[in-house]
Amino acid sequence: MRAYLETASRCELNYDSPPMRLWHKAKLLGVWDPEGFNLRPDTRDWQRLSDLERELLLHLSALFLSGEEAVVRDLLPLIRAISSERRLEEEIYLTSFLWEEAKHVEAFSRFLTEVACARTTDLSRFHGPAYRQLFYRELPDALKQLEHDPSPETLASASVTYNMIVEGVMAESGYYAYHRILCEHDLMPGMQQIVYHVKKDEARHIAYGVFLLSRLVAEYGAPVWQTIESRMGQLLSVALDVIYETLSCYEHLPFGLAVDDFINYATEQFQRRMQRIARAREQSLNNVLQEFAFDPAEV
Ligand SMILES: [Fe+2]
Ligand SMILES: [Fe+2]
Repeated sequence: MRAYLETASRCELNYDSPPMRLWHKAKLLGVWDPEGFNLRPDTRDWQRLSDLERELLLHLSALFLSGEEAVVRDLLPLIRAISSERRLEEEIYLTSFLWEEAKHVEAFSRFLTEVACARTTDLSRFHGPAYRQLFYRELPDALKQLEHDPSPETLASASVTYNMIVEGVMAESGYYAYHRILCEHDLMPGMQQIVYHVKKDEARHIAYGVFLLSRLVAEYGAPVWQTIESRMGQLLSVALDVIYETLSCYEHLPFGLAVDDFINYATEQFQRRMQRIARAREQSLNNVLQEFAFDPAEV
């Protein structure tokens, strides 16, 4: 039997808290429909691409589709851990988080089936060793660990893996690739719209991760910070290896792309996230809550 319901002792939710601010944004901005975009112009653009250009776009989209599936499948232990701490506002926000990830799977699946005609293609050939390490091992293992050990350090390790590396470094680098390929070459307006909306959703997911990690650092101090620092360092090289193995298999990268450009972009994302979370070492929990309550989407 359940011992406690939060709303029995307080009927008012904390609307100014960072997760409720994100929840309000999710209700307004996260309601787009993956089925609501016209992909016929994208199909025409796809047919005009060279074989090499199609292969790279298929490669990128296949990695995204499986990455989105992985984050759908692996999020529940984090939601359960937050729920067991009775952090109702955070749990409310996380319901939109999982729903949005599910829509991302649908959106990339639509592109791959309707535009790239990949219905019967085996996309696992795109999953290289570094990709497999991150999405088949590090991500599910870090999240599953929470089922047995919901300590602040395990929570921090899970959030670093999920929010900071997979979303904050990997997915952000992927959007950059779509931007370089689609926006700079004025291609596939439907997919441009899809990526725009996915990226907005992900900005909230990353903001939640930065908030969660900052809260944990402010609440539990050095042991949590050391976990974050060590996990970030451990996974940065894996994330960079994913980028390298994805792009270096093309002798001549189409669309004017260059491997170094993406390695630099990913490293910058990593450093920005680290610096932002490091600030919490000097902050009280109240400082963190006030700073993020002001505008969490800016982080
Ligand atoms: Fe996503
Ligand atoms: Fe996400």
